[in-house]
Amino acid sequence: MHVSTELFPNAEVTAAVTEYAIANSTGLGEVINQHRNDTLEFTQREAQDPAMMINTLQAQFMVFIAKMHRVKKVLEIGCFTGYSALAWASAVSDYPDGEVVTLDLDYVATTFAESTFAKQDTNKVIKLIKGPASETITTLAGRQFDLIFIDANKEGYIEYLQKVLSLKLLAPNGVIFADNTLYRGLVANTENNPAAKNQAQVGRSKHIDAFNKFVAAHQELENVLVPAFDGINMIRYKNGGS
Ligand SMILES: C[S@@+](CC[C@H](N)C(=O)[O-])C[C@H]1O[C@@H](n2cnc3c(N)ncnc32)[C@H](O)[C@@H]1O
Repeated sequence: MHVSTELFPNAEVTAAVTEYAIANSTGLGEVINQHRNDTLEFTQREAQDPAMMINTLQAQFMVFIAKMHRVKKVLEIGCFTGYSALAWASAVSDYPDGEVVTLDLDYVATTFAESTFAKQDTNKVIKLIKGPASETITTLAGRQFDLIFIDANKEGYIEYLQKVLSLKLLAPNGVIFADNTLYRGLVANTENNPAAKNQAQVGRSKHIDAFNKFVAAHQELENVLVPAFDGINMIRYKNGGS
């Protein structure tokens, strides 16, 4: 048994600390903040789930890591309304050849994303490819990305990773972030987890559990499963991939 530090005593303190961390971390800028608000309105209007979007602190964290890692090319699997894509775009904007390719289905959220990218003039940096990602990802053969963010349907994670590897989409020393990889804590399969009452979530957590085990057992990969946000599995080639 490993001993961990219990960070905060309850949900109220956790929420207050998250607000504190957001306020005392570098801001994302007006355009991205406004898009978050616009997405909240959109999800109400169109009966979509606002919790699909990564939270503000996670966006701040990912932008920081991408800048620290001098990331120029990002592949995102799971665009939704484009909130995280806009965050990635801000991280690569220092580079003239900075680019974000984002994959998602053709539906109301991606129509909304497209209109945002066009309005913000970010469609020079962000390229949205619509259709099932297991198919559209194959059109990227020959390309390489410094950072790949997997944040789409949970049952697809293993296939997306396999395609990333077989198509050699990860650049040397590149990193993959797979989101929601602790899935409300359900992957740890404890008895005292109120989220376990939601059977749809339990089903998704089983796909995530299989993904995490696939990554941990992969001979060419090393990873760390970070218990931040809903869990981020950070993955790279053992030898950097060069
Ligand atoms: C959690 S949301 C992405 C949120 C986004 N990364 C953000 O933080 O703003 C997951 C997205 O995966 C997409 N998705 C689900 N199944 C898919 C598939 N087969 N191919 C591509 N995208 C898919 C959904 O349409 C949804 O927009």
